[in-house]
Amino acid sequence: MTPAPFPLFRARRLRRSPALRALVRESSLSPADLIWPIFLTAGEDGEPVASMPGVHRRSIAGAVEAAREARGLGIPALCLFPYTAMAERTADCAAAWSPENLPNRAIREIKDAVPEIAVMTDIALDPYNIDGHDGFLRGGSVANDETVEALVRMALAQAEAGADILGPSDMMDGRIGAIRRALEAEGHRDVTILSYAAKYASAFYGPFRDAVGASAALRGDKATYQMDPANGDEALRMVARDLSEGADMVMVKPGMPYLDICRRVKEAFGVPTFAYQVSGEYAMLRAAAAHGWLDGERTMLESLIAFRRAGCDGVLTYFAPEAARLLSG
Ligand code: PBG
Repeated sequence: MTPAPFPLFRARRLRRSPALRALVRESSLSPADLIWPIFLTAGEDGEPVASMPGVHRRSIAGAVEAAREARGLGIPALCLFPYTAMAERTADCAAAWSPENLPNRAIREIKDAVPEIAVMTDIALDPYNIDGHDGFLRGGSVANDETVEALVRMALAQAEAGADILGPSDMMDGRIGAIRRALEAEGHRDVTILSYAAKYASAFYGPFRDAVGASAALRGDKATYQMDPANGDEALRMVARDLSEGADMVMVKPGMPYLDICRRVKEAFGVPTFAYQVSGEYAMLRAAAAHGWLDGERTMLESLIAFRRAGCDGVLTYFAPEAARLLSG
């Protein structure tokens, strides 16, 4: 439909007042669209993450407090990532499937204290691995099938602890199907999987690797398992594959540089689609705001509405509590 010629059509008529702009606004953002990623530590609550100003690592008690805060703000879900010191990392990554590891203990305590909050996990070996990779390094490459077996154990331990949403972020082939079959076999029929389906080998993860203690550990890059930033069609194949293996929801990661992928995924599949506004995106906006180069609050909200406009149902963002506070006035 083409608009009438000027002056019969004047686009500015509908931009004239806040009321008119609100009436014709196409997308909306609410706290209910946000998933809040937090970092766990076995140490003191409140350790700052240098490359992510405003973010600190939390003890389990601090994580429970975050869940209460989320509930108060209308944020439906938290996503947990453990910090692991170099000395606690092992070649066999056995802590990854221990019922007593930091995330599994935190899941139980959060679900006990704040059952309304959905708890999302991360499934990948990098927080536990001596070399910082998401899977077992064998002869210079990450071994797919052996890693998938470990990821299945990890997923079952998280489901057992009471996780609501499992987040496989490892990018091994066949992991969604293997995890889904194991969940069904063990009676965890209602545990959902939010697959990191289109996860790119991105330099925007840098600050996150500081936050979880993987920066010093990581040797090489993740380009043999994460996607090439130059590819778009491949993302659609990854999403189709993960849905066919039993994923309930899919993710595109990073977020802002990949909005075209968000739009294509939503249009092609129409399934619950999430973007991860990753640590580097957060750090960029924070750093510019700290220098007074950008308006921090306005750029944050603009970056978040962009995900909704691009077709995402929700966003994982470190800004979640701050954004929720602004959105609820
Ligand atoms: C690990 C994982 C990463 C992120 C989430 N899970 C980093 C990586 O793949 O190296 C990145 C999140 C962020 O940068 O905020 N599997």
